[in-house]
Amino acid sequence: MPMGGLQMKKVITYGSFDLFHEGHYNILKRAKELGDYLIVGVTTEQFDESRGKLNVVDSLVDRIENVKKTGFADLIIVEDHVGQKAEDIQKYDVDTFVLGSDWTGHFDYLKDLCEVVYLERTKDISSTMLRNEKYPIIRMGVIGTGRIAARFVPEAKYVSGVIVTSVFNPNEESAENFADRFDLELYTNDLDKFLNNVDAVYIASPHETHYEYAKKALLAGKHVLCEKPMTLKKSYAEELFRISKERKCVLLEAIKTAFCPGFKQLLGVARSGIIGQIRDVEACFTRLAAEGVREKTDTKYGGGFLEFGSHTLLPIFKLMGTDYEDVRFDSILDENGLDMYTKVSFSYEKGMALSKSGVGVKSEGQLLISGTKGYILAESPWWLTKSFEVRFEDPNIRETYSAKFLGDGLRYEISEFINMIHNGELKSYKFTEEESIAIAGVVEKFLEERKKKVERMGLKSVDKNIA
Ligand code: CTP
Repeated sequence: MPMGGLQMKKVITYGSFDLFHEGHYNILKRAKELGDYLIVGVTTEQFDESRGKLNVVDSLVDRIENVKKTGFADLIIVEDHVGQKAEDIQKYDVDTFVLGSDWTGHFDYLKDLCEVVYLERTKDISSTMLRNEKYPIIRMGVIGTGRIAARFVPEAKYVSGVIVTSVFNPNEESAENFADRFDLELYTNDLDKFLNNVDAVYIASPHETHYEYAKKALLAGKHVLCEKPMTLKKSYAEELFRISKERKCVLLEAIKTAFCPGFKQLLGVARSGIIGQIRDVEACFTRLAAEGVREKTDTKYGGGFLEFGSHTLLPIFKLMGTDYEDVRFDSILDENGLDMYTKVSFSYEKGMALSKSGVGVKSEGQLLISGTKGYILAESPWWLTKSFEVRFEDPNIRETYSAKFLGDGLRYEISEFINMIHNGELKSYKFTEEESIAIAGVVEKFLEERKKKVERMGLKSVDKNIA
């Protein structure tokens, strides 16, 4: 072996090395044989997530440990961003870059910096294969065939370990059309038949039907991912979580923002102390609805707050907690009694919060988190959280953060849901039972207040029994 840094031939290779297998061992061995000093880059969870690899099982620490155990790596580094490979090659003065043949051609742009070698991939083994063996594929069914359900099926394809097999709609023709469109194996208007064919369900039916469907599915021992608002009454949400624990089934409310990478980062920054004590959270989400669409015509469950309120309550409860002292509702109602615009104000012992939602009034859709030392501003569409800024008294000091948000973003909540099932975890810190129940509590109070206002105003057409 040549002595000293000058003659030493340095080789570098990268990977997730999840569920370490023979293919990984072989490539590390052969990579090492190409030189004298092997550097191995192991990807972080965040980097894997941002490039669409959502279901890595082993932690970074375990994956590094497994690479180390082979004894081939002289140096192990962590890969956490796009463009890092070129930086590393220059930084470590690398002679040869190695990856498996599944990447052939992909990294030819590095040839300006060093030799690029693609080694033949070991046959019939991959982390994906092992993940699928370790965790049986979850067969999922969709309840409802509307806009959001149509977004769900393509997004589920980006998550390993799950396959959407079935669709239920009381209207069989709608179910059939949906199954044709997405090539699903079963469509039906028979709920028992549907539940028998799946391990888990995604509930994307009208708001008022969530509770009944979720309850039936949980009682049948199925895991439930339920669109927001999960229920319209606090006691319903409590009951569902109780059943989910009894049946050892996952119950998760599908507020996609809670699971997307940028929002998680925003919460981390907000809680880091950089803006001091958080005293106020203001979140706004409005989208003008066309005349005749459900948001404006479903006189029981349409309106701005039921449409977008769960989104705006999310950062409020995440950052200020669910233990508010007081809540107050202000709504502008249409003639049919639906709220076109709603403000919900919370007071806390040491702070306040405001949620603004609307389908008939347009406002700036921003999230503003105010603290004793500075504030965080996430501009519209903050609910996808592609970027946000930390600002201070001195306008010259600003920190900008940005994050990936892939596709429609539903893949993040699906991934969390599937991981919970695989790991037998009934809780997600990203969106907790307490937060779900608190949202149901606010929805319930809102419906009561709206009903009172409808009565005060003498509006006739809205259903009086909604609360
Ligand atoms: N590799 C290999 N032979 C295999 C599997 C992987 O040579 N059977 C190589 C890859 O080409 C890559 C390195 O091992 O250079 C790390 O790959 P990684 O993506 O971590 O492993 P995969 O098994 O391909 O993972 P996944 O199924 O998640 O894509």
